[in-house]
Amino acid sequence: MQTAKFETDLSLFKYDNLEQLPAEYRGLDETERTERIEAALEELGDDVVILGHNYQRREIVKHADFIGDSYQLSKEAANADADYVIFGGVTFMAESADIITDDSQSVILPSMEASCPMAGMAEALQVDSAWAELTAATDENIIPITYMNSYADLKAFCADQGGLVCTSSNAHKAFEYAFDKGDTVLFLPDKHLGENTAHRLDMEDEIVEWDPWNPEGITAEEATSNDIILWEGYCQVHERFRTEHVEQVREEHADANVVVHPECRREVVEAADVVGSTSTITQTIERADPGETWAIGTEVHLTNHLSRWHPEVNVVPLCGDACMDCNAMRQIDPNYLTWVLEELLDGRERNVIEVAPEEKELAQVALDRMLEI
Ligand code: 13P
Ligand code: SF4
Repeated sequence: MQTAKFETDLSLFKYDNLEQLPAEYRGLDETERTERIEAALEELGDDVVILGHNYQRREIVKHADFIGDSYQLSKEAANADADYVIFGGVTFMAESADIITDDSQSVILPSMEASCPMAGMAEALQVDSAWAELTAATDENIIPITYMNSYADLKAFCADQGGLVCTSSNAHKAFEYAFDKGDTVLFLPDKHLGENTAHRLDMEDEIVEWDPWNPEGITAEEATSNDIILWEGYCQVHERFRTEHVEQVREEHADANVVVHPECRREVVEAADVVGSTSTITQTIERADPGETWAIGTEVHLTNHLSRWHPEVNVVPLCGDACMDCNAMRQIDPNYLTWVLEELLDGRERNVIEVAPEEKELAQVALDRMLEI
């Protein structure tokens, strides 16, 4: 089978226009930068919209026009009239915003070092070479599905091979779409979301893991004798949660409820009361009765926001002090936000995310297929 050829040599820092924070912005204190950010926003007015992912720190979300999960923020980007969309999130989210917004709008990622390690675990070139092996080993029709947490060139690759994108909320529908069109799913890059989805569809016996880093691993023939091939990718923030944490929280709080993100391990998801995207987690706490205890298995900034926003609910982190923040999300520093805004006032665009046109067109197809399911 002919495979797609992509020029992009994807790495953790995909864009070579990455600019570091100038020295004079490094030591700003919170009061000064808040004043400067507010002054810049006042002057820029409707030219700018700030999108803040649920995992962003307090000093970023307090300036955000919209706060939400990665899918909701892409939709906000699509609706935005502003010339500049400033994305408080990570590279793959800003790329999706660039794909969805029109060409006259610029998407700015204040620090381009905000790159999700899980997205970096499935590089398009690496997937292309695995694809060649897998497709050569079988006559079955393999459909690739990539989670939103992946780079634009992988989304483009999936579209080119008849596949699509999914989010944590619609992964099961993407699987159904794929099995309608083909025989086998290659799911990228998050093996846990893939496994959790297979369970939801009662297909847990059909799973196999494909580890591109392990030359001793299973052969392409062995892999393709299963219906669901899971790429060996994961999120370290979510892999940290274990069933012991669920047991411990239930011991400490007899009436504790547990809500986790589907990037968590299978057994943790099974032990939880609710599983869903960061917006599902947020809605769960919004709907909780006063006095209820909810333990949250996701990135710790969101847990802290929910505890602050809903003092009537007892919100606790599922693994206590061991809960992690996301190192990629943390790169969006409020000093960077001050800098990119003040540069816009002077007519300079810094750290613009611009997906290559040929990738953009195909990645849009993969996103459109998702919107249709
Ligand atoms: P959501 O799409 O649920 O916001 O999750 C994004 C993410 O990065 C989870 O780790
Ligand atoms: Fe990536 Fe995990 Fe951070 Fe989400 S929490 S952006 S999946 S590293």
